[in-house]
Amino acid sequence: MEQRLKELEQEAIQKVQTASSLKELNDVRVAYLGKKGPITEVLRGMGKLSAEERPKMGALVNEVREHISAEIETKQVALEEQAIQEKLAGETIDVTLPGRPVKVGNHHPLTRVVEEVEDLFISMGYEVAEGPEVETDYYNFEALNLPKGHPARDMQDSFYITEEMLLRTHTSPVQARTMEKHKGKGPVKIICPGKVYRRDSDDATHSHQFTQIEGLVIDRNIQMSDLKGTLNVFAKKMFGEEREIRLRPSFFPFTEPSVEMDISCKICGGSGCNVCKGTGWIEILGAGMVHPNVLEMAGFDPNEYTGFAFGMGPERIAMLKYGIEDIRQYYTNDIRLLRQFAVHE
Ligand code: DAH
Repeated sequence: MEQRLKELEQEAIQKVQTASSLKELNDVRVAYLGKKGPITEVLRGMGKLSAEERPKMGALVNEVREHISAEIETKQVALEEQAIQEKLAGETIDVTLPGRPVKVGNHHPLTRVVEEVEDLFISMGYEVAEGPEVETDYYNFEALNLPKGHPARDMQDSFYITEEMLLRTHTSPVQARTMEKHKGKGPVKIICPGKVYRRDSDDATHSHQFTQIEGLVIDRNIQMSDLKGTLNVFAKKMFGEEREIRLRPSFFPFTEPSVEMDISCKICGGSGCNVCKGTGWIEILGAGMVHPNVLEMAGFDPNEYTGFAFGMGPERIAMLKYGIEDIRQYYTNDIRLLRQFAVHE
């Protein structure tokens, strides 16, 4: 019996030592120390031994079991360590390898202009307001003093969805919507950027979808001089301190009086060139004093409140600022255009 135990011990230890994985090691444990293993078998046969031999043999069995267990444990630690080492070796990172360059995107020129204009007006106390692109006939036209059948509606060919719904032709409806929200109480100082739509055939200067930025100020005692001062600051900040502005009389149904603002030509400095078509001036935006009908329809008392409004096209501003010649370039997603605006802000 003793002999058999010694053999088993040696056999088990040899198998432990040659085990090359944790799984194999566990198999050895189960095979030799498990309930169905040969050592348990030996224990079962102890009933046949004499009373003196039994404790001796019992002690020997325990000794053998402990020896095998200790060997397994040592081997297990070694195998685990080996597994970690192999994993680490497999995951070695060569930190000296040059990285793959990350492509950095640029802001679209229109986004840049819109954000620049927003920042400028926010710095003067304006808030940014937005409105829906699918608009009602009421807000797009009627609330702006353009009743049904008004000839000035022809200035803005529209995409109608139903009799009463259309894609907004300008950002001016946001004026009426915002004023209504103020429930007849000033001040209102907003800037509203957004997309607008017109039934135009696309060419170098027309697009069926483009961008506008609307401005509106309503308060007591707002005068034309406030409008002029504001536009002057805007022109100089956007186009350079040496720019002059000029206001020309114009017509918009929602303002009275109405003006168009020109800036002195940046290219020729006012002496006349191709860009300004020889006039020395470049048209930038439409503006005026908010028409009393518009104030009244939106719930403001025109005897108490006055205001000014303006509307501009970022496409045109970006064209002048960056020398973009064809409006379609903004929308054709030619990556080469965007790459030219690679300023990493
Ligand atoms: N909504 C006008 C257009 O799309 C632009 C405009 C002109 C807006 C004068 C205004 C304004 O707020 O006062 O042609």
